[in-house]
Amino acid sequence: LENGVGRTPPMGWNSWNTFGCNINEALIHQVVDAMAGNGMRDAGYQYVVIDDCWFNPNRDANGNLQGDPNRFPSGMKALGDYIHSKGLKFGIYQGPLAKTCAQYFNSWPGSTGSLGHEAQDARQFAAWGVDYLKYDWCSPTGTIDDQVRTFAIMRDALAAAGRPILYSINSNSVHAKTGPQRNWGDVANIWRTTEDITNAWDTGQANGYPMGIQNIINVTVPLAGYAGPGHFNDPDMMEVGRGGMTDTEMRTHFAMWAMMASPLIAGNDVRSMDAATRTILLNQNLIAIDQDTAGQQATQVSFDGTRRVLAKRLSNGDVAVALFNQGSATTTISTTATAIGKSGSSFTLRDAWSNATSTTAGGISASVPGHGAVVYRVSGGSTSSPSPGGTVTVVSAASG
Ligand code: GLA
Repeated sequence: LENGVGRTPPMGWNSWNTFGCNINEALIHQVVDAMAGNGMRDAGYQYVVIDDCWFNPNRDANGNLQGDPNRFPSGMKALGDYIHSKGLKFGIYQGPLAKTCAQYFNSWPGSTGSLGHEAQDARQFAAWGVDYLKYDWCSPTGTIDDQVRTFAIMRDALAAAGRPILYSINSNSVHAKTGPQRNWGDVANIWRTTEDITNAWDTGQANGYPMGIQNIINVTVPLAGYAGPGHFNDPDMMEVGRGGMTDTEMRTHFAMWAMMASPLIAGNDVRSMDAATRTILLNQNLIAIDQDTAGQQATQVSFDGTRRVLAKRLSNGDVAVALFNQGSATTTISTTATAIGKSGSSFTLRDAWSNATSTTAGGISASVPGHGAVVYRVSGGSTSSPSPGGTVTVVSAASG
């Protein structure tokens, strides 16, 4: 979406994965303070997104949305002011239909979705200082056309409200029908590609509830052609630092999100991160690959069912390459400079985790543990245009 924001994938934190509906002003203040002090803000994590359940289940007498006065006693404008005072940005959740997801699926009280209130709600968000809207379709029914029409109403309402607001949408329960089948780049800055993530490596889902890390990667890799500055695939908020995975799997999760030019939205309790989690979320090499201004998502170079090679062309002509082992046993994964779109006689490989460099005449290879991914930034020589890894495959698109 060409609205001036989201030129690189958004980075931040979202309340849902760890806290669900258990959110309040004190918690958000603590999270904001933590992000300002623990290196996250300075590494680029800027959006603090308050997910579902922040609202009063009744609109006011004029039909305006209101924050829950018990959870957010100082009000939503004051919450945004606090977030902004620490150099961060304010994100909020809402639904396009009658109910939010918690109202629809979890019997949360009220019917305060934006249906019929889009312009009023967009103006309200702008008045509160909102910088990011997560807009979440919650109904098992609806066609692609229904969704396009409905999501576009809020897109236009946000534009009319006059504040730059990053627009994040989720097809939710109709993902299998819509998410992978449509290029949403004219509607939103980011769009979810799957059903909800969970803190597990593999839940065996193709695209159903809930999705493990491996399952989401399988769906999102083929969608590379949809990504670019202002419009990115969203494989969901991260589960790094939430347990449920080995350290190797968490590193691969983060590395693959960076390769896929995905939003890097932490979902852990950032007030109490252990050293392993911190090392992952603050990896500068991978953040730079994710945030590269070319905005390209890695394309698939090769895949034999276990060994998957992805390459992401970067703005300075470097290429990031991931050697990803989807199997459980250690194996050697190899590719070449030529295969990732490089030509020349000598290249430098920088390992994204160890920062060690090595040189090669063209062979790129590593021993990779099960569920692991070795990522190199490859420089030197010249780079073919526009994208390494051959043709981008996208699932046949419905109407544009
Ligand atoms: C849906 C979304 C989640 C979260 C919840 C909130 O399930 O996909 O990311 O926002 O709703 O109810």
